[in-house]
Amino acid sequence: MEIIAILLCISIIFLTLLWYYPLLKKHKKSQCFTKPKLPPGSMGWPYIGETPQLYSQDPNVFFASKQKRYGEIFKTHILGYPCVMLTSPEAARFVLVTHAHLFKPTYPKSKEKLIGPSALFFHQGNYHTQIRKLVQTSLSPETIRKLIPDIETEVKSCLESWVSDEKVINSFHEMKKFAFNIGIISLFGHLDNNYREKLKENYNIVDKGYNSFPTRIPGAAYTKALSARKRIREIISEIIVCKRKEQRLMEKDLLGHLLNYKDEKGQMLRDDQIADNVIGVLFAAQDTTASVLTWILKYLHDDQKLLEAVKSEQTAIYEANKRGKIPLTWGQTRNMPITYKVILESLRMASIISFTFREAVVDVEYKGYLIPKGWKVMPLFRNIHHNPEFYPAPQNFDPSRFENAPKPNTFMPFGNGVHSCPGNQLAKLNMLILIHHLVTQFRWEVVGYESGIQYSPFPVPLHGLPARFWRNEQTQEMLG
Ligand code: HEM
Repeated sequence: MEIIAILLCISIIFLTLLWYYPLLKKHKKSQCFTKPKLPPGSMGWPYIGETPQLYSQDPNVFFASKQKRYGEIFKTHILGYPCVMLTSPEAARFVLVTHAHLFKPTYPKSKEKLIGPSALFFHQGNYHTQIRKLVQTSLSPETIRKLIPDIETEVKSCLESWVSDEKVINSFHEMKKFAFNIGIISLFGHLDNNYREKLKENYNIVDKGYNSFPTRIPGAAYTKALSARKRIREIISEIIVCKRKEQRLMEKDLLGHLLNYKDEKGQMLRDDQIADNVIGVLFAAQDTTASVLTWILKYLHDDQKLLEAVKSEQTAIYEANKRGKIPLTWGQTRNMPITYKVILESLRMASIISFTFREAVVDVEYKGYLIPKGWKVMPLFRNIHHNPEFYPAPQNFDPSRFENAPKPNTFMPFGNGVHSCPGNQLAKLNMLILIHHLVTQFRWEVVGYESGIQYSPFPVPLHGLPARFWRNEQTQEMLG
């Protein structure tokens, strides 16, 4: 009897252990997960962190060497902030798309002041969604297809102004002028020349101040930029008054959309909100488009065989349009496969927006690592675009790699998720139209060629790619 009782006790204990073991294991495991650790990496020196290392070398070399050492997620301390950097497509998607609500956009206050605090890219939530919808509508394919004749006029006038036997132009500076003028067209439609010149003059001062040290000392670039910004705000207010008076509100440019907007309570946008978003879009459109176009000039110049292929694709369209007498159609711009691949490969190769910044609004756990609340989070687009796993021989410029669609989340020149670029279609349309006229009617030579990159702040070829332009012989004959 005693033996049976002992055996029964043993089997009860055994069964109990058998039942609880997996639960204990699970508990132990979950105990590990409740205390996620910080990602690997180095925080550098007190206060300055690793900022000197970032600036003492090409920033992309800094990011790439960190990735090699620590893998897809690592911590560092730069520009006064603790940061977590992410180099995998999944991690970028986590921050920008699936868990975007846990990360807010973040910019230095000095930059926010220059652009204007109501510009959409500083916001999250309802206000952002509403303004973004207006911007997206005014930059949608249905709207921008109507801009083709204006873009063509602008392209032709720019290219003509570059032609000279003696004059060497700074390609990047000229591309900036072009991108600014297109920005004005998409924002205001047809704008009085006087306003356009005044905006340009003041915007150039803001542009200079944007990347300078943010001090309020009289005469400093940043102080001048703040004053110029005030003047831009006044000019935009005058334009708004004119537009309202002339009842041109139904026009489908961005200003018209912003002026027509009413929220669910019938509330309209204030003039300062409108001005901040106008300046914001101009700002987002100019240097980005200009840098990529400058890289395209370089890549085509460096690969004459590729240039011939692009030329032959564009010449067929040019001939069909009676040597440029008939304007380009939307359909034609949708059917330039070689040129389009050159644009995609230029966007990948140059990765002019190497990364973006967000800030964790709560403690976030990603793959067992802790991203503490308040830390900056940087998805590194360039590292993804230059990862040989996704793009074999990533340093080679090879548009044919885009014959197959890239793997999901491995191609993000325009970002991803709620803040991704609403101007991406317009940017690509500008590039297609500029390349069309450039290769069919002009030729160019890079002057004093030195390879290298400068940061202004986006990467551009050294010295802005000095170049000389000529009309090609056939066009010359035709005009003669
Ligand atoms: C090649 C040219 C361009 C590139 C590479 C580019 C790239 C980008 C990227 C990567 C972002 C997302 C930034 C982030 O997530 O933090 C962005 C946002 C934005 N871009 Fe572009 N962009 C270009 C041209 C343009 C143009 C032409 C416009 C307008 C006419 C424009 C307007 C904007 C705006 C308004 C945002 C903010 C969107 C938001 O916060 O919801 N961009 N751009």
